[in-house]
Amino acid sequence: MFEHVKAIPPDPILGLIAAHAADSNPKKIDLGIGVYRDEQGNTPMLDCVVKAEKILLETQTTKTYLGPPGVVGFNQAISALILGADNSALREGRVRTVQTPGGTGALRVGADLIHTVSPETEVWASDPTWANHLALFPGAGVTLHSYPYYDAETSSLRFEAMIEALQQRGPGDIVLFHACCHNPSGISPDPEQWQVIADTASARGFTPMVDIAYMGLERGVEEDCLAIRLFSEQCPELIFASSCSKNFAMYRERAGAITVVAEDSQKAAALESIIHNITRKNYSMPPAHGPAVVDIILHDDALKAQWLAELKVMRNRINGLRKTLSEKIAASGIQRDFSFIARQSGMFSFMGLSVEQVHRLRDEFAIYTVNSARVNVASFNESNMDYFIEALAAVLDE
Ligand code: LMR
Repeated sequence: MFEHVKAIPPDPILGLIAAHAADSNPKKIDLGIGVYRDEQGNTPMLDCVVKAEKILLETQTTKTYLGPPGVVGFNQAISALILGADNSALREGRVRTVQTPGGTGALRVGADLIHTVSPETEVWASDPTWANHLALFPGAGVTLHSYPYYDAETSSLRFEAMIEALQQRGPGDIVLFHACCHNPSGISPDPEQWQVIADTASARGFTPMVDIAYMGLERGVEEDCLAIRLFSEQCPELIFASSCSKNFAMYRERAGAITVVAEDSQKAAALESIIHNITRKNYSMPPAHGPAVVDIILHDDALKAQWLAELKVMRNRINGLRKTLSEKIAASGIQRDFSFIARQSGMFSFMGLSVEQVHRLRDEFAIYTVNSARVNVASFNESNMDYFIEALAAVLDE
């Protein structure tokens, strides 16, 4: 049966981890996968996570199965955090959250849910969007289309074209948004623009689905949840996939959740039962460790305050790196305008390089970015930035 199998190329983002690890150049830089790094190039555990893990170790008495919803306290805390504790959908019992293996797991369960309850439904995602969205939705049997989003000429949002496209959507369609830190462009709608998007969703009747993988890393936890809160107030139905990988620096623990908001509590309960059926057929139950840690942090005032402070340090560092990088590029004599880097947010920006230039960065300078020239800004530091700018000047021929 395996006679004819042929290897397929590695995932465009994950493949870079191995290629970078195998490179012996001491100056190598990994600008690929979206992982936060400190000035020393490490991805440390947060102190609040280490403390909560100690509490967990001292207090847990069993590792028996938790059941389909996973860690119930985590589900409650994460939906209240994102929707806001006084959210009307929450008060009306119209929200259900089920823990999943990471944010990708949440997206896949969400895509399976869409395909199960409405096999004809299709999804529209921003152009461009996270590369894995392009594989994940069709992988679940859901057709994916795109709407205009990023203007490569001006490195900014094509807001009018986006709204025009959203006005073509209607009941039975799903439109996928990134709540903050748009991956891969680094450009998000501003609060007024989110309001127009929510008004459009409400007027046209399509169902918003939101990927919230970087909450707290753009402007702050409350601010970064704005889109979801607006949708939850204005639209009868909403799906969102959340992740604790980046904001709790718990990447490998795979802590995520799928949340559905339905028109009434009966429909919400029905959707929850279908989600449980989907997860049972796939992986039975989600892993508990990461969400149990988040559960402890979000239910302890001191640990939660510490988490918010540690998250702020990461956010400020990324924003500081954006400013420094754009200033240093301008001061280096490179003529092309890279000032957009400072105006964007989150981990990623497009450098506007051709695939050939990206390969030159890799082959001649041991600098790894995905072929789209998306860079992870959080990978820069004082000691690698100048080397990157030299390499950039060389491949730009400036
Ligand atoms: C990224 O886009 O680099 C991150 O979301 C990590 C991943 O799994 O691709």
